[in-house]
Order: sequence, then C-alpha cells, then structure tokens
Amino acid sequence: MPQIRFFPMDRSTEVPVGTTLSEAAGAAGISLRYDCGGSGTCGKCRIEIPGDRVGPDAQQVFRAVRACQTIVEGDLVCRIPADSLPAVRIQSVTDNRLRAGEPFAPVAATGDYGLALDIGTTTLALQLFTPELFTPGSIDPESGIPGVVVRENPQKRLFGDDIIARIQKVCDDPANLLAQQQVLLETLREMIAELAHVHRIDRRRIMRLCVAGNSVMELLLLGLDVVSLGSAPFEPVRRRFEPIPSRALGLDLHPEAVLEAFPLIGGFVGGDLTAGSVACGLTS
Ligand code: FES
Repeated sequence: MPQIRFFPMDRSTEVPVGTTLSEAAGAAGISLRYDCGGSGTCGKCRIEIPGDRVGPDAQQVFRAVRACQTIVEGDLVCRIPADSLPAVRIQSVTDNRLRAGEPFAPVAATGDYGLALDIGTTTLALQLFTPELFTPGSIDPESGIPGVVVRENPQKRLFGDDIIARIQKVCDDPANLLAQQQVLLETLREMIAELAHVHRIDRRRIMRLCVAGNSVMELLLLGLDVVSLGSAPFEPVRRRFEPIPSRALGLDLHPEAVLEAFPLIGGFVGGDLTAGSVACGLTS
C-alpha cells in the first residue's frame, strides 16, 4: 500500500490507492479542517504535495491541493500549512486543584453524581457534579470545581465544520443521521470514562446527564431528524424531549440514569439559550 508521510509533524500511514488525503491524514492521527464537509468548496483543507522539479538543480517545488479532493495514487510526502489545522484548543481534565499542580483527592465517595454536557458545534464540554454542588450556595471556590473534560466535536472532521454542512450530510444520505449520533456518543463515552478515571469515581453512581446545545446539535445527539432545519420555516421535528434512559444510548452509568436535553425555543434558538435563561434566572 502507498505510504503517506505528513510534515511538519512527521507522521506516516499506509492507505489503499483511492483513499483521499483527508482520510489518509485522519489515519495518521491528523485532523485537517473540513469546513465544507469534504464537498470541495471551501479550500480550507489545503495541503502541499510535490510538484514539478525546476531550475538547474531540479529543485522540488510543492503545489497546493485540496486534501478532501485528492486521491492517493502512490507514495507521497505532504506538507500541512498551519491554517489547514483546526484552531480548536484540545484541553484535558482541568480543575482548580489540577491547575495549581497539587495532588487531588478523590471526590466524595458517597452520594450520586451528575453530568452537564455543553454540546457545541466545534467543542464538547462535560462537567462532573458532586452531591455538594447540587445544594445551592455550597460551592467552595477554594476547594476546586469538579473536573471538566473538553474535546473537539468529532463531527467536524467527519461531517463538516458547521451545522449547515451536517444538515446537508443527512439530506444527502439519511444514514448520516445515525452516523453523526454514533460519533458523538462514542466521544461522550470516552469523556465520561476520563472523568471517572481522573476523579476515581464509579460512573455507575452517575444518575443524571443534562445536555444543552443548539437545536441541530441536540437533535443529532438524540438521533432525531435535522432535515427540517435546512429550509424554511426551519421548524425542528421536536422542541421538548422526554428523559431518555442512558442505557438506551449505550452510556454505562447508573442503571436508572437518564439523559435530559433542554427544550428548544425554535429552529435556531436552541437548548443552549434555554439553559442560559434558566441559569440567569430569566425564567423565574
Ligand atoms: S475543500 Fe472543504 S474540506 Fe476540502
């Protein structure tokens, strides 16, 4: 199989002939920008491959191509410009104690835990809540907030940078609805496992997972159709959601744990704004 080598990170992979350079980069563990979902229109996935040799020294020059549109035909050495890489900051578990570089103790060994997920188009942020934090006024800023884990939304690389590209993917092939839900759930499982590991908790003590995001992201996570949000009157198939048993989504939490998504206000006024309104007291 052809070997593809990527610089400046100096990573290599072997892929079959016919693979795109975007896919080859992914196989090498490199996430290129994918703003248009690989339709070839944005040019943001540009990488440089060897072109002609010029001059008396037959010096190699490189030419820019769109990685999502360029097919591997043989061995290749590529250069990836910095602006073809996503700008999203990948952050691991952070909390006040970890930032201070101090050893951290396990969070409370008893009681039930909760999770809050901010499901963004580009970034997923998951926060663990301990029993103490369920009681208003009991948050001690000195003792440290529970851990947060942040990951890039995996849909970016596979289905496009923005929600329009992801809606279009479902319009093109309805199977992409399930595919987009599955990559989200897979990343969510990893994030939960990381929080449980770092904070030394049994994830089967987690009773509740609350989710807030824009309308498209919430519907995709729940596996609900988003095609209606691609054209006027931009009406979501559903605005309110019943709690869903977490086991129905393949999330290994408490046997009776549920996932609850904030209701949508409208097609593009999502559960993230509902959650913000509640947090600010606008609803009281
Ligand atoms: S041209 Fe848009 S991702 Fe390649």
